[in-house]
Amino acid sequence: MNPVVVGISGASGSVLARRAIEALLERDIPVIATCSSAAQMVWQEEMEEPFREALARWRESPHFTYHTPGDLKAPIASGTTPTAGMVVIPCSTGTVAAIAHGLSSNLLQRAADVCLKEGRRLVLVPRETPLSPIHLENMLALARLGVTILPPEPAFYLHPRSVEDMVEYIVAKAISALGLPGFDERLRYRRRGE
Ligand SMILES: Cc1cc2nc3c(=O)[nH]c(=O)nc-3n(C[C@H](O)[C@H](O)[C@H](O)COP(=O)(O)O)c2cc1C
Repeated sequence: MNPVVVGISGASGSVLARRAIEALLERDIPVIATCSSAAQMVWQEEMEEPFREALARWRESPHFTYHTPGDLKAPIASGTTPTAGMVVIPCSTGTVAAIAHGLSSNLLQRAADVCLKEGRRLVLVPRETPLSPIHLENMLALARLGVTILPPEPAFYLHPRSVEDMVEYIVAKAISALGLPGFDERLRYRRRGE
C-alpha cells in the first residue's frame, strides 16, 4: 500500500499526532512523517515523552520514515512519489494559510501542495479558537478545492470519559477521511450502552 503522509504542525494537540502515527503503524500502514520546528516546540510544552524519543520508537517500525521540515529533496516533495494522501494533525492556522496560498516554504507545506496538485486526499485538523475571518476564509478556500477540514472537536454524544477517548475519536475521524477502511469502527466505541 502507498504511504500516508503525516504532517505535524505547531498547533496545540501534539497528542493527536502521536496517536495518528501509532494507529497507522499498528495496522502496518506505511507512514512518512514530517514535523515543523514550531510543532517540536509545542510538543515539548505538551508531552511528557520528548519528540526524539517518540521518533526513535516509531523508527523501530519498518513502515515508518521521517524527514526534517527543511528536507525539500525528500520524495514527498515530488508528485512522482505515490502516496495515499496526507493528514496534517494538528494543523496550525499558519500552515492552513500557507497551504491555501501555495507557499510551500517547508516540506510539510510542499507535501500538502503536492497533494493538491496531484488531486490526492488532503485532511487538515486545524486547532485554534476563536477563528478569525482570515482563518475561516483560508479554510473555505481549501474546502472548495476538496480538502477535508476536520477540527479536533469531541463527540460529546459518545460520552467520552477521558482525553484519550476524545483523541481516539478525532484520530479515527481524520484517518477515515483519508478513505482508509477499518478506522470508522472506532468511532462507535464507548457509545453509551454498547
Ligand atoms: C505552546 C504553543 C501552542 C500553540 N498553539 C497553537 C494553536 O493551537 N493553533 C495555532 O494555529 N497556532 C498555535 N501556536 C502558534 C504556532 O506554533 C505558530 O504560529 C507557528 O509559527 C506555526 O508554524 P507551523 O505552521 O510551521 O508549524 C502555538 C505555539 C505554541 C508555542
